[in-house]
Amino acid sequence: MSLDVRKLGDALGAEIVGFDLLRDLNEDTAAEINHVWAENCVLCFRDQQSLNPKSFLTLARIFGDVQPQLATSKEYSVPEVPDVGILSNRQTDPVSGAKIMRGGSWHTDHSHSAKPPRGTILHALEIPDKGGDTLFANCRTAYHDLPDNLKKFVGDRKAHHVYLSSRSPRKMPTLRDHEKHLDKGAWHPLARTHPVTNEKSIYLNPIRNEAVEGLETEQGFSLLDDLLTHATQQKYQYSHKWHLGDVIIWDNRSTLHAANFDYDQTQHRLMHRVMIAGEATY
Ligand SMILES: [Fe+2]
Repeated sequence: MSLDVRKLGDALGAEIVGFDLLRDLNEDTAAEINHVWAENCVLCFRDQQSLNPKSFLTLARIFGDVQPQLATSKEYSVPEVPDVGILSNRQTDPVSGAKIMRGGSWHTDHSHSAKPPRGTILHALEIPDKGGDTLFANCRTAYHDLPDNLKKFVGDRKAHHVYLSSRSPRKMPTLRDHEKHLDKGAWHPLARTHPVTNEKSIYLNPIRNEAVEGLETEQGFSLLDDLLTHATQQKYQYSHKWHLGDVIIWDNRSTLHAANFDYDQTQHRLMHRVMIAGEATY
């Protein structure tokens, strides 16, 4: 079958219309879906209510190996299928018990790892009456549009990513003693090359970045701030309004994303999440 692909927004994103992930997935459609994904950065499949955690994993595997959830997320995983994570606005920090707003500011997933997940998939199980959109920014177009002097200054510089930056606008779940090994950190290029498209994207993470190679601390932060401001301009954004049963996969290598907590917090927003293992950055 050939896919019915429609653009979601001007900046990025495509919907594959009328595609039932349980019925229509095969080798040919999987290859085509991967192609559309690389081009559009964010893909949406509507009305996938019949997907359960196990079939969700089957879908995920067309994009690569499934990455296990972080140890700290054990409380946030589906018990029978632990590679499927749970995102809920009712979750609390495993140590302090305080409410946490997971995903509530611009970031790319798990960039403190040497091989950050190439993609993340969410399946919408419960959504608020209004609000709770997820924002995406196209960092590939943003890199393409960078002024030449800034592009040159970025060059091959790498940024240091740690579990939780001292400048992070929000808290991450607290690591317990047996999880401290997850805070090793990693250096990644600020202009990251996508292994499929060979195009570069701005690759940074305000919740993880702690330094930029070759720059004094404040100068590095200033560069990161300038790049973030540039990459998250309205013209690079797409805001996804969720419907029940939506499945969305985004490319962590070429986009930033942020969950919006603008909705009535007495209502439940519940998603299942699978991450796709990534590769070394360059
Ligand atoms: Fe995220």
